[in-house]
Amino acid sequence: MTPVDEPAQLLFPHAQLRARIRELGAELTAELGDTPEPPLLVGVLKGSSFFFADLIRTLAMPIAVDFMSISSYSAAGTQSGVVRIVKDLEGDITGRDVVIVEDIVDTGLTLNYLRRTLGARHPRSLRAVTLLDKAVRRIVPVPLEMSGFDTPDVFVVGYGLDFQGLYRNVPDILAVKDLARLANDPKLLVSSLFGSSGTPG
Ligand code: IMP
Repeated sequence: MTPVDEPAQLLFPHAQLRARIRELGAELTAELGDTPEPPLLVGVLKGSSFFFADLIRTLAMPIAVDFMSISSYSAAGTQSGVVRIVKDLEGDITGRDVVIVEDIVDTGLTLNYLRRTLGARHPRSLRAVTLLDKAVRRIVPVPLEMSGFDTPDVFVVGYGLDFQGLYRNVPDILAVKDLARLANDPKLLVSSLFGSSGTPG
């Protein structure tokens, strides 16, 4: 357990994530187990990659996988809602049962963009599953069929989620207690999480 005076606190330990992901996998298997063609699971890079890898291994059915990467522009630290595709799907999704797999839905701008973009390609069905749902921060109301955990209005890192590219490989999900301090020193959590091995030299 992370001590209370640490700049980040344990929010969802790895074992709790894995247990909930097994439940989500069972729900998805029940919903999509008898589709005419194997459903297509779409991972949204990079944050959902850990969740994606664990989720798909709990599915007791044949599936296909593909990935998208998108970037959102922000002006002066605010989210403009302008999203652009950096890497698109490789295949046609017409007539397919598609599941968007997200790490976290925050303002909803990203998922809203993905749903509109993929929905326009005439899939047979379109669902979204997210590991974390920060509903309190929603700007755009967007349908979300499945979510792992309701998440409070805190910045989280670990299990795929990053701050300035760091901390994705932490197995647990941690809540950052002082985001301003982390912004000032992005490597703030390195020594407590990785010990001396996190310090080069
Ligand atoms: P949205 O478009 O505001 O819903 O944001 C979605 C994206 O913002 C996620 O896929 C994450 O990459 C990022 N994000 C939102 N909240 C957090 C957080 O607490 N930690 C890390 N990344 C976050």
